[in-house]
Amino acid sequence: MNRLSVSRDRTDIMGYDFADAIEHGTIVSELSVLVAKCLGMDEDFCNDIAIAAMLHDIGKLRLSEHLHKERSEAMVVEKMKYVRMHATFSRDIMKEHGYADNLLDMVYHHHENYDGSGYPSNISGEDIPLGARIIRVCDVFAALVSDRSYRKAFSENVAIELMIEEERHFDMKVFLAFLEVIHSDDYNRVRRLMHGDIAACVVSYYQDNIDM
Ligand SMILES: [Fe+2]
Repeated sequence: MNRLSVSRDRTDIMGYDFADAIEHGTIVSELSVLVAKCLGMDEDFCNDIAIAAMLHDIGKLRLSEHLHKERSEAMVVEKMKYVRMHATFSRDIMKEHGYADNLLDMVYHHHENYDGSGYPSNISGEDIPLGARIIRVCDVFAALVSDRSYRKAFSENVAIELMIEEERHFDMKVFLAFLEVIHSDDYNRVRRLMHGDIAACVVSYYQDNIDM
């Protein structure tokens, strides 16, 4: 297979890195669909979670507008409050574009923790929509294995160890399905995404699905 090299030019608008956002959304979406399939969910659910997981952080676009309008010291103190608003903004943006309520619920609750310590509603257990519980696990993993401005990416093994330490945040049935997924052959395509080789992923997808 010809491996294409991808330019990783950054598209930075008001501090919002679209390349990073698209890459993160794609990884969370791919992982969420694999976990949903592993849990035996039907095609409609898998299609819905693919979209919700891709767009779960789109509210950060609106968040960055807030962050860049206010530059006072008070803004530093209030920053966490604004960051936590992104789940609400994501839901609002998707609602404005006509997405169905079940997708809105998956996005709105993607930072709820299974033990009720998350946000924005502090709901727990089965009260959290299943799609949100799946996105939560995949989102945390995707974030841990990616570089951030304040730290380098953790290895996959360390990321899993960190998640096990915080397992009270996750639906154990979802977390076990996630562990099964990342030890499966299907995970290789997602792993290529994580290492930034999106072009190779696209070529692989077409080779798997279309006669070339
Ligand atoms: Fe988020």
